[in-house]
Amino acid sequence: MSLGIVILAAGQGTRMHSTLPKVLHPLAGQPMILYAVEAARALTDLPPVLVVGYGGEKVRQVVGEAVTYVEQAQQRGTGHAVLQAQPALEGRTTEVLVVYADMPLLKEATLRRLWERQRANPGPITMLTLVSDNPRGFGRVVRDERGTVVQIVEEAVATPEQMAIRELNAGVYCFDAEWLWSHVGLIPLSLPKREYYLTCLIGMATAEGQRVETIPVEDAAEVLGINTRAHLAEAEAALRSRINRRWMEAGVTMMDPATTYIEAYVTIGPDTVIWPNTYLRGQTRVGAGCQIGPNSLIEDSTIGDGCRVVASVVEEAVMEEGSDVGPFSHLRPGARLEAGAHVGNFGEVKNATLGPGAKMGHFSYLGDAGVGAGANIGAGTITCNFDGKQKHRTEIGEGAFIGSDTMLVAPVRVGKGARTGAGSVVTRDVPDGALAYGVPARVREGKDRKD
Ligand code: UD1
Ligand code: CA
Repeated sequence: MSLGIVILAAGQGTRMHSTLPKVLHPLAGQPMILYAVEAARALTDLPPVLVVGYGGEKVRQVVGEAVTYVEQAQQRGTGHAVLQAQPALEGRTTEVLVVYADMPLLKEATLRRLWERQRANPGPITMLTLVSDNPRGFGRVVRDERGTVVQIVEEAVATPEQMAIRELNAGVYCFDAEWLWSHVGLIPLSLPKREYYLTCLIGMATAEGQRVETIPVEDAAEVLGINTRAHLAEAEAALRSRINRRWMEAGVTMMDPATTYIEAYVTIGPDTVIWPNTYLRGQTRVGAGCQIGPNSLIEDSTIGDGCRVVASVVEEAVMEEGSDVGPFSHLRPGARLEAGAHVGNFGEVKNATLGPGAKMGHFSYLGDAGVGAGANIGAGTITCNFDGKQKHRTEIGEGAFIGSDTMLVAPVRVGKGARTGAGSVVTRDVPDGALAYGVPARVREGKDRKD
């Protein structure tokens, strides 16, 4: 027994009104197409066959080497799209699963159920159906008086009676491979769109007296097909609540799941509390026992255990255990708060490390800098790291005390245990233990020496 999977992604997605191919629109931070590819790859070792057409180059760039590509140069319908996959798959598998790339919520387990049912089906097709009062433009499942499936009717050609049918074609099918490959080339052209509908295969099978099995989908959200921006928003909401539920089950507290936005690749440790209006994006990892939010955005960052982020933006930064930031601060790329370091109000840190226990409480900018353990950065301190052409580094030693409103004109080094006076403009290195004060700063060696 072996399974081939065909993913259809050649359509433009006209109803999106976008220059981006429909299947590349992101959902929970990940291009839509990757959900289908991931589910397919979890099911079988044979790489899925991805049918691309409109925007094919862009799709290839996003999906990469994980699939076998097949080109459908002209989009002549879903049946025609599957026909393009025939040379790649015929004779290689006993069953073929066909899914559309615009259904990102479909679960691997559902695909597996479909495959299992088809293996037990003496007939050539098992399809996924959905009973719903909201037809969303789906094809209708037509049954005879004994309840046997007869055919699928697309909305474009349905009669008023057929339009009223509540059982819908979800658009996921498992075929007997031999039957599929001997029939997919025989699909007739359908008017008025002049397309070859994959759904015609159902009528073709029943006309031969063969049995078409159906499996109802358990969770309607799984088959939210995305054709419009409104569908995109619906799917985003459904995916968000699925992700949030998963983290709550794993021990994360959410004060308000409805305003908590967690992307697909994020991980969160237990006993972390997420406050409202918080965004965790990209490759972000949050440890255990943290307090995150409200009103925070964390992107591509690593947050250790027991950290706190309040009303702040954290991008490509690292916060070690017990460090905290905010309210109203910005950790930019390359910022690193070591264990227990503190950034308070209105701080900005870029490409700079605050050593263990270092503090920067109020209104400061640290760029291209290293701050030693336990140092205190006074209110209003600024590293003047840019001379108009180049960036320069500032090094501040362990236990240093930087007075309020100090300007550190880089490149410059302030030694261990050194101090700067309030309002000083430091243009030259300050030795360990020395005091610098004034504009430009003069240095006085040793803490206790009298003038
Ligand atoms: C399709 C089904 C409909 C089902 C619905 C569920 C057909 C004819 N209709 O309609 O019964 O209820 O899905 O969502 O299959 N594609 C190609 N090449 C083409 C045309 C489409 O690769 O020539 C791809 C699209 O990129 C898309 C998928 O096939 O990923 C489905 O196409 P779409 O136009 O969205 O079909 P629906 O009208 O939604
Ligand atoms: Ca669709």
